[in-house]
Amino acid sequence: MKISFKSQSDAQIQAFIVDENGDLPAAAAALDEESGGLLSEALAAERFSGKLAQQAIVVMPKSVEARRVVLIGGGKPGKRDTKAYERIGAELFKSQSMSGFKSLALTVEDADGAASAAAGAKLAAYRFDTYFTKLKADQKPSVKTFTVVTEDEKAAKAAFKPMDADTDGTYLARDLMNEPPNVLYPESFAARVKELEAEGLEVEILGEEEMTELGMGGLLGVGQGSVRESKLAIMKWMGGKTGDAPVCLVGKGVCFDTGGISLKPGPSMEDMKGDMGGAAAVTGTLLALAKRKAKANVIGLIGLVENMPDGNAIRPGDILTSMSGQTIEVQNTDAEGRLVLCDVLWYAQETFKPQAVVDLATLTGAIVISLGHDNAGLFSNSDEIAEGLTAAGLTSGETVWRLPMGDSYDSLLKSKFADMRNIGGRAAGSITAAQFLKRFIKEGTNWAHLDIAGVAWKEGAKAAADPSWPSGFGPRLLSQWIADKYEG
Ligand code: BES
Ligand code: MN
Ligand code: ZN
Repeated sequence: MKISFKSQSDAQIQAFIVDENGDLPAAAAALDEESGGLLSEALAAERFSGKLAQQAIVVMPKSVEARRVVLIGGGKPGKRDTKAYERIGAELFKSQSMSGFKSLALTVEDADGAASAAAGAKLAAYRFDTYFTKLKADQKPSVKTFTVVTEDEKAAKAAFKPMDADTDGTYLARDLMNEPPNVLYPESFAARVKELEAEGLEVEILGEEEMTELGMGGLLGVGQGSVRESKLAIMKWMGGKTGDAPVCLVGKGVCFDTGGISLKPGPSMEDMKGDMGGAAAVTGTLLALAKRKAKANVIGLIGLVENMPDGNAIRPGDILTSMSGQTIEVQNTDAEGRLVLCDVLWYAQETFKPQAVVDLATLTGAIVISLGHDNAGLFSNSDEIAEGLTAAGLTSGETVWRLPMGDSYDSLLKSKFADMRNIGGRAAGSITAAQFLKRFIKEGTNWAHLDIAGVAWKEGAKAAADPSWPSGFGPRLLSQWIADKYEG
């Protein structure tokens, strides 16, 4: 779908925001007159209150050029924020995309509001049709152009530019998660990352030989039951001052998680193709930063593996030696994400001496129980990073909620045979997972862990801006956080 900003439009569908005060904007009032009062009649007849995103759809007579007018609720007058405009754009696109008409225009006076409405429409327009071979024309969206009619087109266009970049990141994260695990596995994921060099990222891929050399016994242990070679993909965006220590973003990239020898139950196991959601978020973020030419030094590192049961797979009872030298007794091969992350986190700190590290992972089912699908779990050793991510969550709409950490949780990781075990028992599963990761964070490194298992995808009722199976959580949050904290 093509998005543009213009001072007027001859689109077939013309949409206007109507507040709870019920006033028609000037251009809508003109159409009302032209159509002999059809719009005001519809508002009165359809119990239209102007509640946010409520819609009244009015078919225009032949005498009017527009074929259809949509009046969309704007909520309380003067109370419309970024999120409200985004919702208006998304809901409008959702209701009209299959209408049969090709062109849709929405009038938004405010330039920033116009940009946010466009971002909402773009998020709602995402589709992943790659593997449907029998889609008929009427099963595909008809709307091809979305025009935001606004007074200061230039200002709106400028405001949309970074949003466009960030939502490109969301699209990429969704695409990667949607791909089936026979298509997207460590090597093919790494190849997709390599393609991002065309966007200005510097990309390096390590294979099993290099990782063996580095001593990454955790990551390699998880991958050893798979016929697919494990990979570590590193992508750099150095748009900040030379010499400024980078921010490292680390992602869990388990391309498929069967649980390994501690095999998962069958129902919904197919969802575990999404267990690379952290890696998808990091990749999407780096794309967004490159697209909007962020003035910050950011390095993304994603550990790509497949967790399979196999004659060569790790067993419960195995002891792995991580790159840090610390040993781990594997008590459950399904607690594999932390085994991958511990080596990538260590490598990131050793190699890049970052000023901050944030990791993202679909790490625990327990976080879905704690927070549901509306907030990612946040764990951090730094109040500053925690506050920054919380604020960026509220701005971007990808919200996070901090959970506690502490020595008594850490003690649950004690092992009879090694420095630690990879599970903490039934209690506080998301926290003990975070405590495990913290053991691989060096003294003085500012670190946060986002457990995104609840927000990376969800079934059931979803927002219009979240139309696919994966939400694409991450790029908008992290890009916002980097803009707030590292770009002056
Ligand atoms: N990938 C899963 C976590 C997960 C669950 C992600 C549901 C998304 C939705 C992770 O590898 C896992 O299996 N975790 C175990 C840990 C347990 C064995 C300590 C879990 O949550 O059950
Ligand atoms: Mn698992
Ligand atoms: Zn997993």
